[in-house]
Amino acid sequence: MAEVVRRIGLSLGADLCWPICFEKILERLDLALPLDGDTVRFEVERVTIEPFDLAQPVRYDVVLDRLTHWYHTSREWIKKAVVMNDLYVFNNPWSIQANEKHTSYAAMMRLGFPVPDTWLLPPKEYEPAADLQVTLDRYARLFDLGEVGEKVGYPLFIKPFDGGAWVGVSKIADRAELQKAYDASGRRIMHLQKAVDPFDLFVRAVGVGPQVHVMKYDPGAPLHDRYKVEFDFVSAEEWQTLANYCLTINAFFGWDFNSCESLRQDGVFHPIDFANACPDSQVTSLHYHFPWLVKAKLKWALFVAATRRRMRKNLDWEPFFDLATSGAPFRDRLAGYARLAHERFESDRFVEFCGRHLPHIDEVVWEFFGTPEAKRAVRLKVEALFPAHEVESFTEHFWGLIQFWRKTESDFLSRRDVPQP
Ligand SMILES: Nc1ncnc2c1ncn2[C@@H]1O[C@H](COP(=O)(O)OP(=O)(O)O)[C@@H](O)[C@H]1O
Ligand SMILES: [Mg+2]
Repeated sequence: MAEVVRRIGLSLGADLCWPICFEKILERLDLALPLDGDTVRFEVERVTIEPFDLAQPVRYDVVLDRLTHWYHTSREWIKKAVVMNDLYVFNNPWSIQANEKHTSYAAMMRLGFPVPDTWLLPPKEYEPAADLQVTLDRYARLFDLGEVGEKVGYPLFIKPFDGGAWVGVSKIADRAELQKAYDASGRRIMHLQKAVDPFDLFVRAVGVGPQVHVMKYDPGAPLHDRYKVEFDFVSAEEWQTLANYCLTINAFFGWDFNSCESLRQDGVFHPIDFANACPDSQVTSLHYHFPWLVKAKLKWALFVAATRRRMRKNLDWEPFFDLATSGAPFRDRLAGYARLAHERFESDRFVEFCGRHLPHIDEVVWEFFGTPEAKRAVRLKVEALFPAHEVESFTEHFWGLIQFWRKTESDFLSRRDVPQP
């Protein structure tokens, strides 16, 4: 029986809190898994940034990547490591690079999701380019912005087609406001999207592999208070719908880690923002929900590394499109998409793996989040974000919410976090 080590790499930027927790919990788990005649152990390392030979081997079996969407050296290292060395990374860097919010709207509309009506506008201004003038002279049609606004209907949102972090997003009540916002949008390519207004519930579903967690969200609250600590705010059926949205989107785009925002109007959840691959993982925004996320990342990373799960490099959308044209009601099609997602995420195998090899993980995570080490991780992140005079009170605030999670976790330990198709 050979001893084998599987290595998990963390490709990080400003993240402080979750990597510390991830590392410490892995240490406490002290895993030595009997797999295929070997004893499999795990190590976690932080990926460094340095020159690399395209032909060099890679040390890792799986990398959790928080940089791809903006730090291109790491993105290119990851791409090489997937192509050359069969690295598994979450998330798929090509899919992040190519599939912005715009594509995600179009694709989910085709699958029948109730995405609000959305138009794309050519930009107000352009970066100079050699062929720009001739192209515009020949082909750019003068358009009446007001007419597009009327077609979409007010209120509407104007927002970048590839947006994130609320940059450049405005709610528009009428023609005059639309003109003003468009004139100010500069070189950005903007969407006009019909507002879901009014809505009676705003939720975020975060998915890690086949695991989904649904949270109530208040976009108007200060950053540290947007994720709500509320339970039973959706029915079991609604939870299933939201989980199925999230799984479908994530499997479709090859995103192992993504979050999906939906607004409920007249009992229907309208997804409005779901190209958030690699969403915020900080304790300072997630607080109560933070331990769930750390545990979910750990379980999925361990499963992937231990079983040497192969990364799907090509997305293969056809099976989803085939279901989309089946003529069945959306509800049934959605269940079908989710079944495909479960197949792609190997949900059954994952549940079995966790049951057999990680039976103590809930307890270990629960214990860890009561330790001074965990509190120190929280404090470090608070120190990085808050002014000195607020560090003490906010550390206690977030710590208090994590202790509340520990209290509720004992009751919830058996809850479903891998949805059934
Ligand atoms: N169609 C919409 N209906 C209602 N609110 C919206 C809509 N689109 C955007 N919003 C509001 O604007 C915020 C930012 O827009 P979003 O599409 O999520 O952009 P980002 O990718 O920058 O987060 C959302 O969280 C929501 O509060
Ligand atoms: Mg958003």
